[in-house]
Amino acid sequence: MTDVQPAPDIPAATEPVPIGKVRIRDLRKMTAHVPRFLTGLREEYGPIMRVPFGNQYAFIVSDPDVVQDVIIASSRKFDKDAQKVGPGPDDWGSTLERVLGKGLVTSAGDYHRKQRRLIQPVFHRQRISGYGESFAKIASEASDKFSDGKQLDFQEAMYELALGMVTRTLFDVSLDSDVASTIRTAFPRKGGPLRWEMSPIWKFLLYLPLPANRQFKRGLRNVDAILYKMIEERRRGSGDGEDLLSVLLTVQDGDTGEKLDDKELRDEAMTLLMAGHETSSGALTWAYYLLGTNPEARERLHAELDEVLGDRLPEVSDLPRLKWTDAVFTEALRLYPPAWILVRRAVTEFTALGYHIPKNSVIMVSPYIVHRDPQWWPEAERFAPQRWVDSDDGDPLSGNATAPGRPKMSYLPYGAGPRQCIGNSFAQMEGVMALATLSRKWEFEPVGPPPARVTSDITLQPRGGLQMIPRRRR
Ligand code: HEM
Repeated sequence: MTDVQPAPDIPAATEPVPIGKVRIRDLRKMTAHVPRFLTGLREEYGPIMRVPFGNQYAFIVSDPDVVQDVIIASSRKFDKDAQKVGPGPDDWGSTLERVLGKGLVTSAGDYHRKQRRLIQPVFHRQRISGYGESFAKIASEASDKFSDGKQLDFQEAMYELALGMVTRTLFDVSLDSDVASTIRTAFPRKGGPLRWEMSPIWKFLLYLPLPANRQFKRGLRNVDAILYKMIEERRRGSGDGEDLLSVLLTVQDGDTGEKLDDKELRDEAMTLLMAGHETSSGALTWAYYLLGTNPEARERLHAELDEVLGDRLPEVSDLPRLKWTDAVFTEALRLYPPAWILVRRAVTEFTALGYHIPKNSVIMVSPYIVHRDPQWWPEAERFAPQRWVDSDDGDPLSGNATAPGRPKMSYLPYGAGPRQCIGNSFAQMEGVMALATLSRKWEFEPVGPPPARVTSDITLQPRGGLQMIPRRRR
């Protein structure tokens, strides 16, 4: 991909029918499962397609080389402030910015680069591994509340688990803390201003005097008050200095000696809190949904946990031996990447695969679509953790994901490049420790047919929840 010169306009063949002309049957399919609908369009229209997006077009790219260029090699030519050119008024994105301020997710350009440089060391793999044992402990305490044979709202349980893990590591507080309960009330999981903002259809609700909008404002003020209080306490030196907030307080620019001020600390803490629980809870929910429908994979998981752990909780030193557990989580992220779409804005016009893409266009890279491309993923729709495990067991899928020749950008659940998930090691370890802890003691049996619809506004989640029956193993 180069800066534009003589390049043709996108030919009509790559342009799916405008939404207005989509048949009612398709519209139903689209709203039930947007990622699957777009994957179908990719099969029809190829690795670059132009879809209507509000009053303009968005370009969905799924060719790994183009993806590599957009999010890594030429990333400076693609801003992350795409919300500002999306459908709706110019302030699209403002609700998210009101919550996250100028934290890592919402900032851009030089400011983002500076903050990222400062914060990156906090997420160093070695430091993060210090949290491994608390992940196991929190998961164990959560699972002690399950009742043998009693139906469980599993999606809700995973949400609470991930929220508990992030509040413990960030602030050293539990799920009964003010911060956790204020987060639940201020940002409800179903509906509410944060979700409306992501939807061109529901966005108008933000501008109406609704109780939900008032509750959101009140909630945000309350979370802010709690965050500033915790920052002040850390500055005064209370706490053991091990939580992420305490560590953020100490980061310092190597050249200028600059540190984060209170507002920056508030924005980054809020960003980590929000970015760090819904994604992880989605990943665990999907992992168990897949295990529920794949008895062979589940049995192999239980066998590994019995052999490696027996009667004890997992420790970080067990991770290299929990290969199947890791593969289950990794494969679940392939089929159901919670951050299923990454959005950028083209700062300049450019060409990709011979197509002209105008300046200011919205570019979308969907890990969901890329991860299901049969060109890189044989039996792409099949849940097959063995792809991630090298073995000479004769199964052609074994070790396939790690084989040479598969483009790096055919798997990107954590994104890549300068905006790659800063919490990727945290999230992977949290996921594997949670899977190991929960499945060591419990087996989960799905209730009813698998969810056919998804919500895909902020993260990818089964719509209508996921019901499971826990059965005690030991
Ligand atoms: C399975 C769990 C997770 C998944 C799938 C995930 C996925 C992602 C993806 C795809 C991005 C890049 C977005 C883009 O390029 O536009 C991202 C960014 C980010 N994630 Fe995660 N994430 C997860 C967990 C976490 C956790 C646990 C934390 C923090 C504790 C976290 C913090 C962040 C932050 C701060 C960013 C913004 C980074 C930047 O732009 O510099 N994430 N995440």
